[in-house]
Amino acid sequence: MKVIHDAKELQQTALALRAQGKTIALVPTMGNLHAGHASLMDAARSRADVLIVSVFVNPTQFGPNEDYEKYPRTLDADCEVCRAHGVDILFSPAPATIYAPTFSTYVTESACSQGLCGRSRPTHFRGVCTIVNILFNLALPHVAVFGQKDAQQVAVLKRMVQDLHIPVEMAVAPIVRESDGLALSSRNQYLSPEERAVAPEIRAALREISEKIAAGTESAETLAEFFMNKLGANPLFEPEYIEIVDNATMLPLKKITRGNTLIAVAVRMTQSRTRLIDNIVA
Ligand code: PAF
Repeated sequence: MKVIHDAKELQQTALALRAQGKTIALVPTMGNLHAGHASLMDAARSRADVLIVSVFVNPTQFGPNEDYEKYPRTLDADCEVCRAHGVDILFSPAPATIYAPTFSTYVTESACSQGLCGRSRPTHFRGVCTIVNILFNLALPHVAVFGQKDAQQVAVLKRMVQDLHIPVEMAVAPIVRESDGLALSSRNQYLSPEERAVAPEIRAALREISEKIAAGTESAETLAEFFMNKLGANPLFEPEYIEIVDNATMLPLKKITRGNTLIAVAVRMTQSRTRLIDNIVA
């Protein structure tokens, strides 16, 4: 596995690979790799000749009071995960390599990014779209793989790729969970022991919602109320939102349309202030 730190070097390498007729898959990450990221690598591995993983804690997608500084940076361990999953190139740039001091160009998607997480994180998706564009321009992938855990990110990036005619196939891999149902996230390590013990209740509530839908409940309002009451009853949870939206547009739905409805939630844990997200497609 080759480790590249320099943006130009990655671009030259990708150009040379393309000139040789090789196909490239990219898995963009912020590092601190866990089994969820490994599943993205496994999904990408079989899709192209060369697998590139980027590890970059992207400053532009964090708000002023968010966890950019404390976000875990574990490059040595990340290298091991990448090696074990057949990664050919690990791209790990320093922020100054990506964002020049004069940097002033951002990519803004202005529909799918407005609700859900976009409401409390108003500049987050602008940062995500910008860095993913940059990574596409450096790694020149034929296909890129993202996780369904960040369902709104997937919708926003798919829209960006469509709108800007970017020649990259967007693939999505399912959420990977702990055995008790908690969705894997690098932020789970911020949880206090008490919070970690109850965190799987988020997924449990989503499963109950699935069961209610299967039993015939169609009203988004009824389901949202159920979720807020259920989690709101435990002082360790501060539910931020439950949104029942069209899976592609992220626009709110009043009635569940089976097969294309995303039920997405964000919950703030009150001891550590960790924000957890999860979702199901009904
Ligand atoms: O999902 C993430 O880890 C990040 O948002 C991404 C796509 C790597 C962009 O920094």
